[in-house]
Amino acid sequence: MSKLGEIAVNSINNGDCIELLKKLPDNSIDLIFADPPYNLQLNQDLYRPNNTKVDAVNDQWDKFDSFKEYDSFCKKWLAECNRVLKPTGTIWVIGSYHNIFRVGTIIQDIGYWILNDIVWVKTNPMPNFKGTRFNNAHETLIWASKSKNSKYTFHYHSMKCMNDDLQMRSDWLIPICQGEERVRVNGQKAHSTQKPAELLFRIILSSSNVGDVVLDPFFGSGTTGAVAKRLGRNYIGFEKEKFYTEVAESRISKVIPLSKELLEYKIEKKKPKVPFGSLIEKGYIKIGENVFSKDKKFSATVNADASLCVGEEIGSIHKMSAFLLKKTNHNGWDYWFVNRDNSLLSIDYLRKLYEEKYLNPSVDNALFTEKTYSRLNESSSNFLVS
Ligand SMILES: C[S@@+](CC[C@H](N)C(=O)[O-])C[C@H]1O[C@@H](n2cnc3c(N)ncnc32)[C@H](O)[C@@H]1O
Repeated sequence: MSKLGEIAVNSINNGDCIELLKKLPDNSIDLIFADPPYNLQLNQDLYRPNNTKVDAVNDQWDKFDSFKEYDSFCKKWLAECNRVLKPTGTIWVIGSYHNIFRVGTIIQDIGYWILNDIVWVKTNPMPNFKGTRFNNAHETLIWASKSKNSKYTFHYHSMKCMNDDLQMRSDWLIPICQGEERVRVNGQKAHSTQKPAELLFRIILSSSNVGDVVLDPFFGSGTTGAVAKRLGRNYIGFEKEKFYTEVAESRISKVIPLSKELLEYKIEKKKPKVPFGSLIEKGYIKIGENVFSKDKKFSATVNADASLCVGEEIGSIHKMSAFLLKKTNHNGWDYWFVNRDNSLLSIDYLRKLYEEKYLNPSVDNALFTEKTYSRLNESSSNFLVS
């Protein structure tokens, strides 16, 4: 069994997640799903009109003395999660109105970048028995990348395919966990807040790859581990109640992974690579103009054949960036910038604009607005004569 730091991959670890997270190395986890205590603050039992007791979350693990104590707890585990998350990874945190707004603020304060909030609409919610409020029929999931500019995993086309070729929306209609799916021990629910496997299926499928490591710091009955294993991912679970770790162990041991063949993302399109020369041909970069290093310390002149000149040296964007950095190889797309409206614009950004306009024009979720196009076209028109 392989290890990440002191923690074995595909293991359930009994203990406090803040302490256990410290045993994982920096940048080692591909995906995190966290279903932390809600801090429901239920002070008394809840009864139905027929006097039967409602099976609400009144567990010891959900008790905090104050919002301050809850916030301090969340700051600690969310900061540790940020440290262990790979730059390409993302975190999902689920919560209700009791905690999700506090968690959202902390997530932003730590430096994560929120990508979406997903509303899990429960198709069969528990009624509001007292009839004093609206029926609370949803929970919210925050999906965030490690930081603002992270390049994260997202299988857009697969999600669209799952949704009958319509872009997958941020409201997910999924029933709460019930019937056969509910894990029971001696006829009793093993865990009061077992999440539906369907929810984890969508999360893991959309934002991770086969072979990735999925971490759940509040493992409970092990829903994350069970779905991760089924989908050919690895898992790591932290759970402070011994009883739940045993429930999860037994649940996951029965899961049979799907074959690799069935898990391939065949529908995700591999975009053809845009060469630097195409940017020149389409006028995004002018022949004879200068390109710059980010700190503007170095510049190079662009030739008609897409080579760059620095003094006597000539080569491709890659070769010239490696030359200036005194390296054998370097990715020139990350190194060179052009001057537009007195600010530096990455050539990689220009490449994305090119892709968006010429290789993926029908995309229904256009990354760049018409305004951006026209601004660029203005600055790039007549490149052969100017
Ligand atoms: C909302 S439940 C998670 C349920 C889980 N998603 C499932 O589908 O079964 C939260 C879990 O976190 C555990 N827990 C609470 N505080 C913890 C801590 N500091 N470290 C590790 N586990 C903790 C609780 O025992 C509980 O099982």
